[in-house]
Amino acid sequence: MASKVTPKLITCLILPSCFLILFYSSFLPFIPQSPSSKTPILPSAACNLFEGRWVLDPTRKPMYDSTCPFHRNAWNCIKNQRDNMARINSWKWMPRGCDLDRVDPAGFLDLMRNKNIGFVGDSLNENFLVSFLCVLRVGDPGAKKWKRKGAWRGAYFPKFNVTVTYHRAVLLARYEWQTKQPGLSGQDGVKGIYRVDVDIPANDWANISDFYNVLVFNTGHWWGPDKFPKETPLVFFRNGQPIHPSLELMDGLKVVVKNMVAHIEKAFPKKVLKFWRLQSPRHFHGGDWNQNGSCLFNEPLKESELDLWFDPANNGTNREARRVNEVIRDMLKGTSIRPLDLSRLSEWRADAHPAVWLGKKDAVAVWGQDCMHWCLPGVPDTWLDILAQLITYNV
Ligand SMILES: *[C@@H]1O[C@H](CO)[C@@H](O)[C@H](O)[C@H]1NC(C)=O
Ligand SMILES: *[C@@H]1O[C@H](CO)[C@@H](O)[C@H](O)[C@H]1NC(C)=O
Ligand SMILES: *[C@@H]1O[C@H](CO)[C@@H](O)[C@H](O)[C@H]1NC(C)=O
Ligand SMILES: *[C@@H]1O[C@H](CO)[C@@H](O)[C@H](O)[C@H]1NC(C)=O
Repeated sequence: MASKVTPKLITCLILPSCFLILFYSSFLPFIPQSPSSKTPILPSAACNLFEGRWVLDPTRKPMYDSTCPFHRNAWNCIKNQRDNMARINSWKWMPRGCDLDRVDPAGFLDLMRNKNIGFVGDSLNENFLVSFLCVLRVGDPGAKKWKRKGAWRGAYFPKFNVTVTYHRAVLLARYEWQTKQPGLSGQDGVKGIYRVDVDIPANDWANISDFYNVLVFNTGHWWGPDKFPKETPLVFFRNGQPIHPSLELMDGLKVVVKNMVAHIEKAFPKKVLKFWRLQSPRHFHGGDWNQNGSCLFNEPLKESELDLWFDPANNGTNREARRVNEVIRDMLKGTSIRPLDLSRLSEWRADAHPAVWLGKKDAVAVWGQDCMHWCLPGVPDTWLDILAQLITYNV
């Protein structure tokens, strides 16, 4: 009898302990490392997907080509015959302390079955979306373009009932052009203002709270004097009234991010997985976009060059990314929104922008080189591998 009971007893004892161990180990990474913002949950505590280095792997090939129907022409670098595309896509991101798996499109879609993923923000989030759609389409070639009032664009994956979309809201907060502003009539040279309501989300994502399971927010590269010069400045309003004293751009960014974070925390259920994508840096060399700045590079930057390019203390052309990140990181502390820090890995990749290959003959003369968005296929496919890994460990 005892010999019969013992194996049962052992099973009864061992199985639960195994479960307990599994249970607790799976919760271990949930213990925040600092009382600051919610740290992304990773396969192991030693793993930092956001830090690492790029290594050349000549066998590495992109998952899609120039024929993906979700491309935006200016980023379709293969079609636009950008030099070096094979090499651009041969670099592999090696995170510190672990490997980064490439996303398995069908497996990921299966995990997301009956779920929806939304991007909200500026064109760099749209750049991210296009990568996402073209990669996932490998897992469901029946993917269809998707459009709904208020949402700019996206795709529906019928095999898995998954929708992935982008809502364009460059400042996240609502803003509108106003020609006549009594309070400003005395100021020289002001043609009008862009009124920003710091406490009101832009219409494009005002009412999406019950649709998404995963959301990825961003804002950043519109917060510059090139978009909003002195003659047509941003003026910040709260509760419908101008904020006094008026705010400079960076202080406006702080107030807007703070208010949008509070709105997100209130408007979306706890179970919605929320990320805030940090800046991917620009790589204008020898001048800004409107000063013939260029990014005709064949190789990623060297580690020793990164601070020279991006540390705000060096006052370089591309200094704003780290500055904006600092504001955003600060505002995310103590919230349920996880920072998706794609900055460091993107800082290296001066070689991977569309540059002069924009698909239109006169585009460079009008807009300058594009050293801000990214070639597709390219670096955003690595962003996707990271995001997919974080989602996989968190849904
Ligand atoms: C598809 O997913 C949505 C949720 O996004 C769900 O409401 C709907 O019932 C699903 N449709 C099918 C056919 O499973
Ligand atoms: C969002 O929904 C609320 C409540 O239904 C409505 O009052 C508001 O006008 C909507 N906003 C937009 C931008 O659609
Ligand atoms: C940019 O290059 C063009 C052509 O070489 C030149 O005419 C123009 O002055 C340059 N602009 C600046 C801001 O350097
Ligand atoms: C930083 O560079 C800009 C030009 O890009 C210049 O106008 C400004 O004076 C510089 N600031 C400092 C502190 O050197």
